[in-house]
Amino acid sequence: MDKKPVLMTQGVTKRFGDFVAVDRVDFDLQEKETLGIIGPNGAGKTTFINILSGFYNPEEGHVFHDGKDITHLSAANRVKMGILRTFQLVHVFDNLTVYENLSLSYFRKKENKPFTLKMFFSSLRQPGIASRVQETMEMLELDHLKDEIVGNLPLGSKKRLELAMTFVSDPAVVIFDEPFSGLGDQEIEEVIDVFRKYIHDKTILLIEHKVSKLEEFVDRLAVMHEGRIICCGDCESTLNDPEVRRCYWKLET
Ligand SMILES: Nc1ncnc2c1ncn2[C@@H]1O[C@H](COP(=O)(O)OP(=O)(O)OP(=O)(O)O)[C@@H](O)[C@H]1O
Ligand SMILES: [Mg+2]
Repeated sequence: MDKKPVLMTQGVTKRFGDFVAVDRVDFDLQEKETLGIIGPNGAGKTTFINILSGFYNPEEGHVFHDGKDITHLSAANRVKMGILRTFQLVHVFDNLTVYENLSLSYFRKKENKPFTLKMFFSSLRQPGIASRVQETMEMLELDHLKDEIVGNLPLGSKKRLELAMTFVSDPAVVIFDEPFSGLGDQEIEEVIDVFRKYIHDKTILLIEHKVSKLEEFVDRLAVMHEGRIICCGDCESTLNDPEVRRCYWKLET
C-alpha cells in the first residue's frame, strides 16, 4: 500500500480541568488502511477520536486532513469532507424501518443542512436515494429486513444497520468507537464480515477492547495508555512491544 496520511495529529492534548485525557499524541492514519486502537478504560481513546472528528478542540497540537490543518474545523464540516464517526452506543431510530433509517442517514449527510421531516419523507422514493440505499442493503445483507421496524431487531442486526448507515453516504474515512460492544461472538463475526467488505476500500479507524477480534483484520494496531499512544505498528510487533507488555498486559518484560 502507498503511504499517504489522510489524518494526522501532532502533539494533540486535551484536558478536563487539571486532568490530561489526551497527552501530546502524534498519530497518523494512512489512506485505505484499517487501524485499531486498544487501551484500558479511561485511557483517552474516545476523547482522542472526539478530537479527530471535531467534537473537541485540543488545547494544544494540530490535526491535519490530507495535509491541511483542520484543528478548528467543526464536526459538521469534517462530515462534509467525508470524515464520519460512530458512537459507543448504537444510534438508530427504533420506530422507523431499516429502509427509512438508511435513507434518512444518506439524506442527512448529502443535504448536510437543516431539513423538515416532510422534505425527508418526500425524498424517500427519489431514484438516487433509493438505488444507493438498495445497493448498501444488498452489500450488507440487510435487504430481507428492509421493511422491518428497527425496534424489533436484535442488537446484532441493529449494529449492522448502524454500519450500513455509516457507509451509505460513501465516506472516505470512518471512525468507529467500540463497534463490537454488547455483541456476542457470533454477532461480532457478522460485524467483522461487514468490515471485510470495506477494508482497503475505505480508511478505517476502530477503537476496540477485544484484541483477538481486531487481530483478524487490522493492518496496524496502536495502544493507548494514560492519554498517550505508547506504540503503533503491525499487530505482532505492537503486542510484543516491551512498553505494551508492561503497561497494557501488566507483564514483567
Ligand atoms: N467530558 C469529560 N469531562 C471530564 N472528564 C472526562 C470527560 N470525558 C472523558 N473524561 C475523562 O477522561 C478520561 C478518558 O476518557 P475516555 O472516555 O476518552 O476513555 P476511553 O479510553 O474511551 O475509555 P473506555 O474504554 O471506558 O471507553 C477518563 O478518565 C474520563 O473520566
Ligand atoms: Mg471510550
